[in-house]
Amino acid sequence: MIKQINNNTNPPHLFKQYISTQDRAPRKKFFQLNYKFKDIFKNKSTDKNCNNNLLNYKKNKFPIGQKIIISGKIFDKSGKPLPNIFIEIWQANASGKYRDVKDTHNASIDKSFLGYGNTISNSKGFYKFFTIMPGAYPWKNHKNAWRPKHIHFSLLSTNFYSRLCTQMYFSNDLLLKHDPIFNSVPYKYRKLLIAQFDSNYNSVPDFISYNFNIVMP
Ligand SMILES: [Fe+2]
Repeated sequence: MIKQINNNTNPPHLFKQYISTQDRAPRKKFFQLNYKFKDIFKNKSTDKNCNNNLLNYKKNKFPIGQKIIISGKIFDKSGKPLPNIFIEIWQANASGKYRDVKDTHNASIDKSFLGYGNTISNSKGFYKFFTIMPGAYPWKNHKNAWRPKHIHFSLLSTNFYSRLCTQMYFSNDLLLKHDPIFNSVPYKYRKLLIAQFDSNYNSVPDFISYNFNIVMP
């Protein structure tokens, strides 16, 4: 899988069908930041307090929804596992609503679900989250637009230049083929955004396990 990755996996800044990119896509020429690739990974992240990968399974609060585990490994482009990557995820609850005052979706808030978690990849690049299956939600991109079920990911190594933002999706979601955000990614790489059922890891009672590996730029 790693060999398939190159610099063209990113969506374009301007993707006509994704309406808000028409306003926010940069119009001016980029300038080069003065850093070297090796500098990004020079130091190791040491803040081990940033570990909240349970998304509300603490204190016996159980959110409504299908319980899932998402785990995987973080690699660099050569296929080497990356430890100490700070990983954040955020997502809608099972009814497709974010814990956000700006979310106008007419759906239920789940008081037992914040929808945010973070963790750090271990010495083998491995990470894991315990959460629930997010719901789809409507948005205003076009008529009858719905976002497919997805989980947002942000990954950081030692500095801001290293940040990678992406979204993880689920297979057999009928909304995927209508979603301009998913479809802005070059066709041959879209499958890499879909979590795989993880039968090896599927031994935790009451949870369905998914695997999602990520390559840092
Ligand atoms: Fe979202």
